[in-house]
Amino acid sequence: MNTPDTGQSQIEFTVNGQTVRTAVLHDERLLDTLRKRLGLTGTKEGCGEGECGACTVLLDGLPVNACLVPALQARNRSVETIESIRPERLEHMLDSGATQCGACTPGVVVSAEWIRRNAAALRSQDARRLMAGNLCRCTGYDGIIDGLTASIEADSHAANEDGGPA
Ligand code: FES
Ligand code: FES
Repeated sequence: MNTPDTGQSQIEFTVNGQTVRTAVLHDERLLDTLRKRLGLTGTKEGCGEGECGACTVLLDGLPVNACLVPALQARNRSVETIESIRPERLEHMLDSGATQCGACTPGVVVSAEWIRRNAAALRSQDARRLMAGNLCRCTGYDGIIDGLTASIEADSHAANEDGGPA
């Protein structure tokens, strides 16, 4: 129910598979809802203006910059944050030296997860272009791309061993 006189509305949406209900300001960013209201501080703020990708989350399965998405737009939708990514998904990034200060890492991992899930459809796309929305000031990107590639190859091997797609 909307309460425009207070400048807030109640919204319900799914975060990492759980239904949540919370008040949000009408001009509130999804990034702040996640971090300040829901305590999901894994999603980071870098530039705060849609340039760096540090705040990347999945909205209905697609990567978005949470610093640019009004919280109201998440109503009745599904949000996935870095907290939902299984820890083993980080292993290839760690092995390839894809993280140093870690400021970009949550967004990198969430974007990589989207690419990994859609690897078949995105096969013809260049991995560096797909990751172009995630800036890193430390690693120089080779480690990130190597980690992403290793993750996709591991999925492919696992699917072959299982006899079908993952
Ligand atoms: Fe959102 Fe940089 S903090 S894109
Ligand atoms: Fe420091 Fe990417 S690891 S910005």
